[in-house]
Amino acid sequence: MCGIVGYVGPKSALDVLLGGLRRLEYRGYDSAGVSVISEGEILTRKKAGKLSVLTEELESSPLSEASIGIGHTRWATHGAPTDGNAHPHTAGDQQISLIHNGIIENFSEIKKELEAAGVEFESETDTEVAAQLLAYEYSKTNDFEKSFLSVANRLQGAFTILAINRDDPDLVLAARRNSPLVIGIGEGENFLGSDVAAFVDHTKKAISVGQDQIVKLRQSGFELMNFAGEEVQAETFEVNWDASAASKGGWDSFMAKEISEEPQAVGDTLMGRLGADGDVELTEFAGLSIADIAGINRIIITACGTAAYAGEVAKYAIEQLARIPVSVELAHELRYRDPVIDENTLVVAISQSGETMDTLMAVRYATERGAKVLSICNTQGATLARESNATIYTHAGPEVAVASTKAFSAQITAGYLLALFLAKALGKTDQVAKVGKELLTLPRKVKKTLEMIGDVKALAEELKSTESVLFLGRNVGFPIAMEGALKLKELSYIHAEGFAAGELKHGPIALVEAGQVVIVIVPSPSAEESLHAKVLANIQEINARGAEVIAIAESGDVEVANYAKRVFYTPKTLPLLSPVLSVVPLHIFSMELAKAKGLDVDQPRNLAKSVTVE
Ligand code: F6R
Repeated sequence: MCGIVGYVGPKSALDVLLGGLRRLEYRGYDSAGVSVISEGEILTRKKAGKLSVLTEELESSPLSEASIGIGHTRWATHGAPTDGNAHPHTAGDQQISLIHNGIIENFSEIKKELEAAGVEFESETDTEVAAQLLAYEYSKTNDFEKSFLSVANRLQGAFTILAINRDDPDLVLAARRNSPLVIGIGEGENFLGSDVAAFVDHTKKAISVGQDQIVKLRQSGFELMNFAGEEVQAETFEVNWDASAASKGGWDSFMAKEISEEPQAVGDTLMGRLGADGDVELTEFAGLSIADIAGINRIIITACGTAAYAGEVAKYAIEQLARIPVSVELAHELRYRDPVIDENTLVVAISQSGETMDTLMAVRYATERGAKVLSICNTQGATLARESNATIYTHAGPEVAVASTKAFSAQITAGYLLALFLAKALGKTDQVAKVGKELLTLPRKVKKTLEMIGDVKALAEELKSTESVLFLGRNVGFPIAMEGALKLKELSYIHAEGFAAGELKHGPIALVEAGQVVIVIVPSPSAEESLHAKVLANIQEINARGAEVIAIAESGDVEVANYAKRVFYTPKTLPLLSPVLSVVPLHIFSMELAKAKGLDVDQPRNLAKSVTVE
């Protein structure tokens, strides 16, 4: 939700800001803007629409050279996406300029006070309140730092704010509460960003700014303090990917590239954690002792959206292998229903960004109740990792397309590792080696799945006018059906629902009529107690009503071809591990259908990648 970048240094501030915004655009893309200080003046350009609209404006009406600036790409909360509501917001007759990510909860109270003092507002945003308050304080104190501290202490809610003042053209001030902020430390230049993507092509040395901290960023260095103005220590980390990992690299979309990276995301997540004998080692568990694990009597997995579906797959794995009861709870529901959580509960929070506010709030709630928190996270330095007892990083690399694909594959993989680790720690080792060894084959099998898919474009073209698609799955195929439906909704704006196949007769079959497209994830026919026959019976019930079935089935399952319009085959694996393979055709199908409709698959309407507001 909103991308933020700040810079002080010898390079062209505008080039650095626009480069950073390009990499942060996945966070919000309904308007964008920049402010720089040049010859004692604050110069601002901002435009509704994607970043390209702003860059066109800057080409036709360039800004003067500057070595300090702030830039913003917006996902609207307060006020429509218009030029006027775009950030930065200036105040005090262009004295200061400010950008913001988050929601200021007490904005209307502050606005009333400022209006009573004669301040006039130009936008409908909560952000302008912070800008006007800062200018107002500065007009009284003439002390930028003091005024900024006072504003940070006055605001309630979630905010990262960055501000510049024309009286100090070497200083960017930033404050962080409940929204992400990272410092990039360069040679004779320094950066601020919502995440490291903002500056990774300039420096890999970074600091994750903690909760309720203020940054004073200058060309020569930075200082970090708390909201009381006391100095705090910073811990640096090295960004472990480079700028090329976050570029399209010849693909026509980030999504196409990221789906093609699913084998690598699975492989890299397994790397160094699983021996050739299938034995698992998770050094990340240092923050949780064996005694902690032995004391766990239940696990609550909490996450949102796609990450929650990865959690559903992890639930099957943990219960099957480690025999610990697991429930999966949407993070935004968890803390509002007075759940039973205590020191014997392990909360597993799954998040690609590690900044999803709903998930962070659920984790804080669980921590207050004494639970231990383990996170599965894809982003170094993320708030979620900072606030967990231990973190298993998924090594999917940067995911830029707004809808998650390769991070989902990596999250499922990390869930399997966790299940194996818990099983081993609890001495329930009967299936560990078998599952562990098979897990090692998955990167190759995901790659094979991609090769086996064949041409999806013709099918996408044929189905592009479809108004509704149903997805059915059973057992571990159920969360994959949900993921397939979510991806189709997000990317192609087609109504889609995922159901447990066994539920069909209990209601959803009423939706099945001639021409309805139903995608069915078919379980392996070779598994013990296979559900294959039952799902095939579902397919026949669907066919009997004139609907069209597209099946995802295991290689060698010739029977299913008799009943389906099209079958996408995946290599054989253990049924428990099949989601990593069966999701691949669904990701490709959703992407191709959206492309056939001429839609932007990387930045679907109304969405933002990192949902940092509740
Ligand atoms: C769907 C999607 C979202 C995210 C959800 C959680 O394609 O990307 O549903 O999975 O917003 O995001 P993270 O994993 O960053 O917490």
